[in-house]
Amino acid sequence: MAREPLRDGHGRAIGDLRVSVTDRCNFRCQYCMPAEGLPWLEREAILHFEEIERLVALLGSMGVHDIRLTGGEPLVRREFPKLVARLAALEDVHDLSVTTNGFLLERDAAALVEAGVDRVNVSIDSLQRDRFYEMTRRDALPQVLRGLEALGAHPQVHPIKVNAVALRDFTEDEAIPFADFARRHPYEVRFIEFMPLDGDHAWSRDQVLTGDELRAIIHARWPLEPEPREPHATARVFRFADGQGRIGFINPVSEPFCGDCNRIRLTADGTLRTCLFSLNETDLRGPLRAGASDDDLEQILRDAVWRKELKHHVNDPGFVQPTRTMSAIGG
Ligand code: 5AD
Ligand code: SF4
Repeated sequence: MAREPLRDGHGRAIGDLRVSVTDRCNFRCQYCMPAEGLPWLEREAILHFEEIERLVALLGSMGVHDIRLTGGEPLVRREFPKLVARLAALEDVHDLSVTTNGFLLERDAAALVEAGVDRVNVSIDSLQRDRFYEMTRRDALPQVLRGLEALGAHPQVHPIKVNAVALRDFTEDEAIPFADFARRHPYEVRFIEFMPLDGDHAWSRDQVLTGDELRAIIHARWPLEPEPREPHATARVFRFADGQGRIGFINPVSEPFCGDCNRIRLTADGTLRTCLFSLNETDLRGPLRAGASDDDLEQILRDAVWRKELKHHVNDPGFVQPTRTMSAIGG
């Protein structure tokens, strides 16, 4: 049943949902999790596949057609490809994508494609094994690259994007190797500015290496030309002037793109977040398990989305970092 489009109080139509399917992860990236990990959610706290499916279908009927599955690390969730298949079969899901650290992709690429995934983003912060280890605390670069290759064998999954978090005094040296990588492979590499969502709550502005700085480094070697910006796009995308490959910059700190944000997020424990930096969230698991009807849930969703934040306040004095880390929100 088609319902009214979902809108926030600032007039933005919501079309994109990020679903975190687990808060667990097999990596411990410096900018995300403490070395010892985090206290994981109890099993019963996590939404079942049926519950996720129901919410995705309901939101789909309100015009939320783009679904991205994240974690933690989504591929550590048991039988994850089965969830992908269930969501891919929903009529109102038009674009189904996954963000993964790639460690289990060699194992799962074929199953995910079979299940109907449309696009995959793989996070890789360095193309040098020792520096990858330093950043993720796992010596896993060769495994991740094998995963990327396994995925590349399926041309129907397109485009494949590689995400690198940009940190000052680290990523400067990655710029040229990643640009070269983007020129030699059919992957779009995107640098993401470090955001205050880290497990150690140690973010500071001077650790943010901006997209513009990285772009200048690359442009000096291989001139870049801007591609037109697509609506709701988070990345500024450039092509190499000589025609080989594309590269993107996601600049949430230096160039916030909140104005046309069309995204909401569902955490693994079933709360709705209307912004990465939300300080309050809306419980959906409680009503779901208490027998709420679709109409009841619709009302809860609409009320929460109506209050979606106009913008984030990372650049304002008095900014307060949310308690949840990226791994417990879903990127
Ligand atoms: N700032 C920016 N990006 C982050 N990610 C995780 N934590 C942060 C952070 N604090 C990235 C991951 C992955 C995506 C889900 O978000 O590397 O690419
Ligand atoms: Fe895991 Fe992703 Fe966080 Fe790294 S950034 S620890 S891969 S959830």
